[in-house]
Amino acid sequence: MNIQNQNHLINLNDYSTETWDSIITLAQLIKKTPRVYKGACTGKIMGTLFYEPSTRTQMSFQSAMLRLGGGIIGFDNPETSSISKGESLSDTAKVISGYSDVIVMRHYLEGAAKAAAMYSDCPIINAGDGGHLHPTQTLTDLLTLTEEKGRLTNLNIGICGDLKHGRTVHSLVRAVSRYMGNTFTFISTPELSMPDYIKKELRGIAGISDFTDYGCFSEVHSLEEAMEHLDVLYMTRIQRERFPDTPEGRAEYNRQQQIFTLTADKLREAKPDLIIMHPLPRVDEIATDVDADPRAVYFKQANYGMYVRMALILTILNHKIDMEPLLSGKSVITKRDCTNLKCVTHYEPTLPKRSFIKDGKTVCEYCDCCD
Ligand code: CP
Repeated sequence: MNIQNQNHLINLNDYSTETWDSIITLAQLIKKTPRVYKGACTGKIMGTLFYEPSTRTQMSFQSAMLRLGGGIIGFDNPETSSISKGESLSDTAKVISGYSDVIVMRHYLEGAAKAAAMYSDCPIINAGDGGHLHPTQTLTDLLTLTEEKGRLTNLNIGICGDLKHGRTVHSLVRAVSRYMGNTFTFISTPELSMPDYIKKELRGIAGISDFTDYGCFSEVHSLEEAMEHLDVLYMTRIQRERFPDTPEGRAEYNRQQQIFTLTADKLREAKPDLIIMHPLPRVDEIATDVDADPRAVYFKQANYGMYVRMALILTILNHKIDMEPLLSGKSVITKRDCTNLKCVTHYEPTLPKRSFIKDGKTVCEYCDCCD
C-alpha cells in the first residue's frame, strides 16, 4: 500500500481556496492563450479508468491531455478489462499507475478514489465516486461562475431538482460557501431535498472553522417561487441510477422526474442577467426552448470543463498543489463495518477499514458516512 503524499485530487475540501483560485486563473489563461500550453505535457501519459458511464468528464479530460501534448490510455467499460476476471480495485490502480503519470478515475462506489490512491504510485484524480464527490465538476462550476458572472461572491444561487442524491450540488454548495455573501435557494420536492448534514454545515453547526461566511439558505417547492430573486439557476437531473431497481423505485423515479421542468415561459420573471447552469446530461428538466436564451450557459459550462481540467492536469503534474496528507490523520484501522452499503470498503476485502470520531459520531475515512 502506498499512502505517500502524491498530488491526488480526491476531495476539493482538502485544498485551500487559494489553490482553487489558482487553478481557475490558470484555466482562464489557457482559454485565452491555448497555444502557449500546446506542448506542456509532451511525454506524459494519463490513464482514464471509467467504471461508470460518462461523456463530459471522460472526454474533456482526454481532450485536455491531448491539447497539452500528452497521451492517454484506459478503459470506459470495465467488462473489457481484467476487472471482468475479478481483479481488485487496488491491484488495478497499482498496475495502471506504473503505466501512467496521472490517473483519472470514475467509480460507482463511494470512497473508491481514495482507496485507489492508497495503492497508486501516481496521482489520482477523482472523476466522481458514486453519490459522494465530483470535485472536477465543482471546479468547472466555479470557472463558469467566474467567467459568466464575473465573481464568486454575493450571488443568490437557486439549485433545483435532485438535491438528495446529487454529488455535484453537494460539492457546489460547500465550495461556494467558502466565498463571501452567497445565499442559496433550494428548490426540490420534500423527498429529494438537500440532506440535513449539508444544511447543518451551512448553518455552521458542524463547526467547520475555515469558512469565511456561512451564507444562508431557503427551501421552496416550485421554480416560480424562487425565479425573480435568482442570480444563478442551477438545474439538475433526477438521478435514476440512485433509485432502487424495484417496481416501487422505478415508479417513484417516474413521479419525481415529471415535477420540475424549466421552460422559456417560466423564465419571464427571471432577472435579465440570470445565468442557467446544468452539469448535464439533461433528461427533461430543461425544455429545449430554453437553449436559445442567452442566459442558458450549460453548453458553455461543459466547454469550460475542458479548460479547468487542462489547468488541473498541469497543476498536478507540476506538483503545484498544496497537498494535504491522503489520510486525515485522525482515522484508525477498525473492525467496524461502514454503515453505507455503497462504500468501497464492502467490496475491497483487503482495504483496511478506517474511521475517526467527529462531533461524537463515527466517520468513515473513505466515504465520509457518519453514524
Ligand atoms: N457532468 C458530468 O459529470 O457529465 P458526465 O457524466 O457525462 O461525465
